[in-house]
Amino acid sequence: MRSHALLPSALLLLGSLTLTAACANGSGTPDPSPESMQAGPSSSASRTVDPSRIKGLRIVNDGSEQSSCPFAISYPDVPGAEEMTSAMRKDVDQRLAAFRSSRCDNGSPSAGELNVSHRFLVASGDVLGVRLTTLDGSGVGNGQSTSTYWYDGENGAYRQALDLISDGSRDAFTAALKKQLRGREGVDPSYLDDAFADTTHLADLLDDLSFTADGNLRAELDRGTVGADAAGSHVVSLDKATITPWLSPFGLRAQQQTEHPGNDLDLGAPSTPSAAVPTHSASADDDTDCKKVKCIALTFDDGPAAPETATLLNHLDRYEARVTFFTVGQNVAAHPELVRAEVKAGHEVGNHSWNHPDLTKLTPEQIAYQLGRTSGAIKAATGKAPTLFRPPYGAVNAKVKAATTLSPVLWDVDTEDWKYRDGAKVARTVIAKARRNSVVLMHDIHPTSVAAVPEILRTLTAEGFRFVTVSHLRATL
Ligand code: NI
Repeated sequence: MRSHALLPSALLLLGSLTLTAACANGSGTPDPSPESMQAGPSSSASRTVDPSRIKGLRIVNDGSEQSSCPFAISYPDVPGAEEMTSAMRKDVDQRLAAFRSSRCDNGSPSAGELNVSHRFLVASGDVLGVRLTTLDGSGVGNGQSTSTYWYDGENGAYRQALDLISDGSRDAFTAALKKQLRGREGVDPSYLDDAFADTTHLADLLDDLSFTADGNLRAELDRGTVGADAAGSHVVSLDKATITPWLSPFGLRAQQQTEHPGNDLDLGAPSTPSAAVPTHSASADDDTDCKKVKCIALTFDDGPAAPETATLLNHLDRYEARVTFFTVGQNVAAHPELVRAEVKAGHEVGNHSWNHPDLTKLTPEQIAYQLGRTSGAIKAATGKAPTLFRPPYGAVNAKVKAATTLSPVLWDVDTEDWKYRDGAKVARTVIAKARRNSVVLMHDIHPTSVAAVPEILRTLTAEGFRFVTVSHLRATL
């Protein structure tokens, strides 16, 4: 994540994403995917890992829904790999603290958002590999950066990317990388020599190493490290025959598990029973007539999350309340069973993008990708594609609306539950502000928000409210 600071980091967040994508693909057409940098030519495609197969997986989520302090972070917590989770938490917390103090507390409204998203590279045998992609538009950070984190189950140890290479082969490895980079468009020779000369920071410079499905090694160097910021990041690939002799014993296993994924991931953690998934079934279609009775639509964003969403479903069942979940695609992929349970219980599932970016800052292709990939994950989990979306931070404009057929849903009661992690306060806010046909914003990634729900349901039921989905509210008004 280290970089030269020769240029002011004034490049806009998404400008950098586009540049990076164009650079990494070696073509003029930016790939809209946030992971476009990982796509590369089809011959060196990376593996797709199904995170729902990872036993006991929990996704650590945090975020806001306010455009004055826009952040969304997400990284996995895999049983057995606690040391790796701690390393990710440390890096992410540092970023978040800097972002919040510069962007949210001191208010620089022109600055962009902080977004940390995750992707599994390998989750097989005793090897776990994860890439975190960070977009930091606060001016404190440096646009986009990526890092890979590795866990070696055989030795019970967290590994940095450079640990994939054996100590004795690092000189040969770095010489091969430099050779590929020198003379490439956007690479500045003086940056290049400086970056590699500083061996104490080599692990920071080379903090994104992974393998492709055919065993090649892929290195991504963040923007600003070997060239000016504007040149974007730089992807280097070393073929299997070249890299294999230089790999450490763990590197060899990581390569093997990427090329030929074996059994399910087993890091030797004591067996963790999967969290219970509620099995409530909606008795029938909801026949509430919102013209005749007081209706209210509670909405829960950013999930699903284990175990919070399961707890929430149990609360809702007790009061026969129906609500709307605006789910984030990367969490749907991790917990499709919870999304299925939401639909089975009669709730509505909407789309809240793949990894919670401000959609107004994206190109139409990127917007379509964010929403399309998420709708695909929801359909795969439930058999039914969503019809509604909630734009992250409530940020929506004509460009966003034109890029999708989904209907946008905002809100009129904001609990600010992401800021106040206090169940009693969240309950008081909803109860005080609830009006007939209100749409209430909450988040089921926070245990405090879930804990507020029984009191909300009890009090508002007594006041004659009926809890309906957003589509039901719209259809019967
Ligand atoms: Ni959100």
